[in-house]
Amino acid sequence: MAKWLDDAIFYEIYPQSFMDTNGDGIGDFQGIISKLDYIKELGCNALWINPCFVSPFGDAGYDVADYCKIAPRYGTNEDAKQLFEEVHKRGMHILLDLVPGHTSIEHPWFQASMKAERNEYSDRYIWTDSVWEVPENQGSLRGVSERDGSCILNFFIFQPALNYGYYERNRPWQMSPEDEGPKATLEAMKEVMRFWLNMGCDGFRVDMAGSLVKNDPEGKGTIALWQKVRSFLEEEFPDAAMVSEWGEPDKSLQGGFHMDFLLHFGPSHYNDLFRCEFPYFNKTGKGDIAAFVEKYLENYEKSEKKGLICIPSGNHDMDRLARTLDTEEQKVAFAFLLSMPGAPFIYYGDEIGMRHVEGLVSVEGAYSRTGARSPMQWNDEENAGFSTASKEKLYIKQDETADRPTAEKQMADGDSVYHEIKKLIQVRQAHKALKSKGEIEFVYVEKDAYPFAYVRSMEEEKILVVLNPSGQEASFACDLELGEVIYSFGGEAKKEDGKVVAPACSATFIRVS
Ligand code: NOJ
Repeated sequence: MAKWLDDAIFYEIYPQSFMDTNGDGIGDFQGIISKLDYIKELGCNALWINPCFVSPFGDAGYDVADYCKIAPRYGTNEDAKQLFEEVHKRGMHILLDLVPGHTSIEHPWFQASMKAERNEYSDRYIWTDSVWEVPENQGSLRGVSERDGSCILNFFIFQPALNYGYYERNRPWQMSPEDEGPKATLEAMKEVMRFWLNMGCDGFRVDMAGSLVKNDPEGKGTIALWQKVRSFLEEEFPDAAMVSEWGEPDKSLQGGFHMDFLLHFGPSHYNDLFRCEFPYFNKTGKGDIAAFVEKYLENYEKSEKKGLICIPSGNHDMDRLARTLDTEEQKVAFAFLLSMPGAPFIYYGDEIGMRHVEGLVSVEGAYSRTGARSPMQWNDEENAGFSTASKEKLYIKQDETADRPTAEKQMADGDSVYHEIKKLIQVRQAHKALKSKGEIEFVYVEKDAYPFAYVRSMEEEKILVVLNPSGQEASFACDLELGEVIYSFGGEAKKEDGKVVAPACSATFIRVS
């Protein structure tokens, strides 16, 4: 049962921007292979790669036109196979990004579905009975097909929703998940999963996993659908790992996912931590963590204290961490990210403090996300060692500031964010209480206050984590007996007169009994 997930530390690769080996200005699979040792050296043992399949790239590949073929700009299916092998040779694992909710309009299924004459794909997407019927509260694509109908959209205008049926139905064209069309869609998606798992990938990060069955306010239809996928995986690929972009772990874990992402949108309060006017992990000391913890605990309880909620450092959809946090603040933030339950996810470049590139024109449907997707900065060579293409041909403009961080510089500097993360990963991996499945109990969380403390535990091991991102010393009353300090940054938190006192901008992990 995907045991490897228990101590997985993920590195997210946005393939366009990681490493280009053929000089076209866009990253590729051989580039990823060439940097596997770098990722392993950092301590990450698992990868998540954003969609790398044939696509017109209107939404950076989240608009798939052929689920079973690697986009030529990244290489071939043979390269993918080689990547899986090279990953496994190093004792690592790899998740591909499955986009089951929608395709590109260029997908042959959609092209066939637009035809007036009924065919195998007529019900693969959700169509109203007439182009004059515009579905309520949902975007639709109209007037482009020979077929008379409006097609429901999932995201951008070129991403029609695949048909998994409706949980509550009030129009004749809304099918049940048990109807033939929706059942065939699910079978087709299982076939896609089978294809890549057979080739050697270890599982999937699933895009918009909670949105497949429509009109499903409590998620019951979508949970039932994923349970079918779970049975299929159990039978054919019991070690396949499934991580959902859902944001409701009580539902996704019921659906058979192993872990769920904490989302930066919706009610999670994730942005209170790192990305708002006064982030908690910032020295001003004006942030609040209480609302985040309240929501986190709600989900933790609802998912039977499994705590399998993955908190990413960032991803291709949000601003770079370094946009709001300075170097020291980033280090304290990583002490948090690498000591919480659930698998940590480090977004490529965050380990070297890559900055958000400002003022860019949107590339491949990224809009405000573009600045977080700029090419990796490896060294001081041309294009920071990312590509030999001329600067104008790079996928996205790089950070051009003279002091831009690079992997090489960070690795050479013992005080860098890179080395702090590396140290934190080693500490996490050496203590089972700190790993994904260790329990968590919050011991000091107050509205608008610092520090923030929790105990992670597994069997007899208990570790108190004290985080004080603020620029002022901060303390809290504590009756725990403090033991050995196993990690600290910015000075150690100490017990004085019944209080734990944490230095300004510090993180301490201490054994407690
Ligand atoms: C979530 C992905 O992370 C995002 O990049 C994409 O645009 C949407 N889903 C649509 O697939």
